[in-house]
Amino acid sequence: MTNGGSHEYTEQFVAGLEWIWGEGFLSPGGPEEVAAILDGLDLGGAEVLDIGCGLGGVDLLLVRAHRAARVTGIDVERPLVDRAKRTVAAAGLTGRIDLLLVAPGPFPFADASFDVVFSKDSIVHIPDKAALYGEVLRVLRPGGVFAASDWLAGSGTPYSAPMRVWLDIVGITFDMETPENTAAALEAAGFVEVELRDRNDWYRRAVREELALVSGESLDRLAKVVGREAAEHRLASSTAKLEVVDRGELRPVHMRGRKPIR
Ligand SMILES: C[S@@+](CC[C@H](N)C(=O)[O-])C[C@H]1O[C@@H](n2cnc3c(N)ncnc32)[C@H](O)[C@@H]1O
Repeated sequence: MTNGGSHEYTEQFVAGLEWIWGEGFLSPGGPEEVAAILDGLDLGGAEVLDIGCGLGGVDLLLVRAHRAARVTGIDVERPLVDRAKRTVAAAGLTGRIDLLLVAPGPFPFADASFDVVFSKDSIVHIPDKAALYGEVLRVLRPGGVFAASDWLAGSGTPYSAPMRVWLDIVGITFDMETPENTAAALEAAGFVEVELRDRNDWYRRAVREELALVSGESLDRLAKVVGREAAEHRLASSTAKLEVVDRGELRPVHMRGRKPIR
């Protein structure tokens, strides 16, 4: 990637994701899922980093619904960051939500800059998890919390044949770890109170709702927005995803860890 950003989230791809997950969201579950990731964690007055902010829908929620004092969202896709900035400005929240286009790799922040690091379904795109978790730990204040969701692979790599079918259809870069390796990597980075909550059951139900949104008359309506080929592609992708989620190979999880006080 260059300073111009990565280019996997095309306009059509983004429109398809928003069709199934709602305006401003590039991942499933909307406000309820964000609340579930933050369950028991009070963001009141907190300075929060959001890794992979996408269109910024989550960042609006972190401020409005969860009372974060300030949110810094980072992403590698320029068009997404530009759109998110316009959304935040239109909401009158520019002073509380700062969005940055970054290059993959070390974060452009000083040590101990944030009370909470959040991420929703973005770490799946970052291959070097050990380096990432090390960076998350570095930018957290002592006692700070990492609260995220991510997509994991139940049986890891090499991926099974159905996983490869689904990933080929999706066509963007996913680097999925197992739940066991993820917990171990968080602990190896230095996190304590590491916890992973499996969301496979929830996502089995959610993918069926997704499929309904890209089938039948709904598919025809989506085709009017993104074109017939892209709409059919979305249907094929959701159909292949249903198989891997039902087989327990695609395992969305919520993850938590705390930076030790000393
Ligand atoms: C599935 S989307 C989720 C976006 C947002 N969190 C949401 O839930 O709507 C994944 C996001 O991660 C971003 N991303 C990919 N690699 C990244 C990296 N190395 N650093 C930060 N963001 C990255 C993508 O550009 C994309 O916006």
